[in-house]
Amino acid sequence: MRARPPALPQPPGRRLLGHMTQWTFDPVSLLEAGAATGPVFRLRLWRPVVVGYRPDWNRTVLKDLDTFRSRGSLSGLTPYLAGGVVHTDPPAHEPARRALNPHFHSRALATLTDRLREVAAWHAPDGPFEALAFAGMLIRRMLNTALFDARLPDPLVARFLAPLERPNPAPLLPRPRLFGRLDAAIGRVLDDPPPGSVAGALVDAGAGEAVDVVEELRVALAAGYDTTAHTLAWALWHLADTPAWRRVDTLPLVLDEIQRLYPAGWLGSRVTSRDTSVAGVDLPARTMVLYSPYLTHRDPQLWVEPGRFRPERFHDGLPAWGFIPFSAGPRTCLGANLARLMLRCALEPFCDDGGLTALDGDPAVSAGITLRPAGPLRLARRAARAAGRD
Ligand code: HEM
Repeated sequence: MRARPPALPQPPGRRLLGHMTQWTFDPVSLLEAGAATGPVFRLRLWRPVVVGYRPDWNRTVLKDLDTFRSRGSLSGLTPYLAGGVVHTDPPAHEPARRALNPHFHSRALATLTDRLREVAAWHAPDGPFEALAFAGMLIRRMLNTALFDARLPDPLVARFLAPLERPNPAPLLPRPRLFGRLDAAIGRVLDDPPPGSVAGALVDAGAGEAVDVVEELRVALAAGYDTTAHTLAWALWHLADTPAWRRVDTLPLVLDEIQRLYPAGWLGSRVTSRDTSVAGVDLPARTMVLYSPYLTHRDPQLWVEPGRFRPERFHDGLPAWGFIPFSAGPRTCLGANLARLMLRCALEPFCDDGGLTALDGDPAVSAGITLRPAGPLRLARRAARAAGRD
């Protein structure tokens, strides 16, 4: 039996279709309209869902993996995320994370820094470029390097990831042959594990006893791709306008601010396994519950001038459970350290040379599985050696 939704405010919708039309065409505006009705609101999608965005909501929903389950949630709708640790609930989730976490820790990843810098320097554009296409290509190559020592054939990785850049339903469709080819290629890399890569480290540590290493690496590749690439594209766009922030030492602040304004994981979902209550709202078992880093990060109760790009705000500390670009709690993003390392390495060539300009483009938010700039974003970089000549 389906859970009966609690009586909660909701944004205006259609009598029969509920909020499905707005959800399909402009889900971000729908969320914003919902947030205007209160800190917890209801949406009528193909099933009723309950959305909250204040820190107390985030804390409860994200800490208790037993009550708030991943299976049956929205990530199961796309084959790219319906697997591996993303799709694992307690009691299996904790041992799976224990097997994976050490290899995604910042200390373990530090050895990759020089290789990732080389990839970034090699591909840095000189002249006009489109930021979304550039970011997709670079992050794809960086992920291949970090996870597989660049041993997966790039055209196969590009084919595997391409649907994630297309509008729905492309990322939602099953692609068993393509996934099978990618899994086979990952299997071949694992047969001769490359030292210095995440794949090699997982094999050396015997992670295969706790998790399906091929599947985890496939899911990591997908989960780390468009999220990181879209963040990079937005960072380049803002840095073009703010030369004072194009400095290697302040990139962490810039990245925090980019992820606050544009959290690629703009929406997360869970399904309750039992009757429970969150932020004073009673929720029956089997309720679909959403949290939204996008709404949390733009909540005027938590942030001064939330719509403005002001990286210096991160000097002042963070609101607890109010800055969650990588989610938080036991299910926090496995690849957060890798994402931040790739982003820093990717942006370094654009620092200190004074040569990044925005030509034209549309940076407005557009939401699919991840948040992305509507695009295109046309920029031009003049490499340092050329900049010095005139
Ligand atoms: C800027 C880039 C990234 C962003 C914004 C991001 C965001 C997130 C968020 C919000 C979640 C939680 C989803 C949920 O609530 O269910 C998550 C989970 C996850 N992310 Fe990331 N991610 C990024 C990059 C990466 C990378 C590079 C990898 C791997 C190489 C990765 C792998 C994962 C995995 C495996 C999970 C599931 C963890 C679990 O369920 O225990 N992500 N990510």
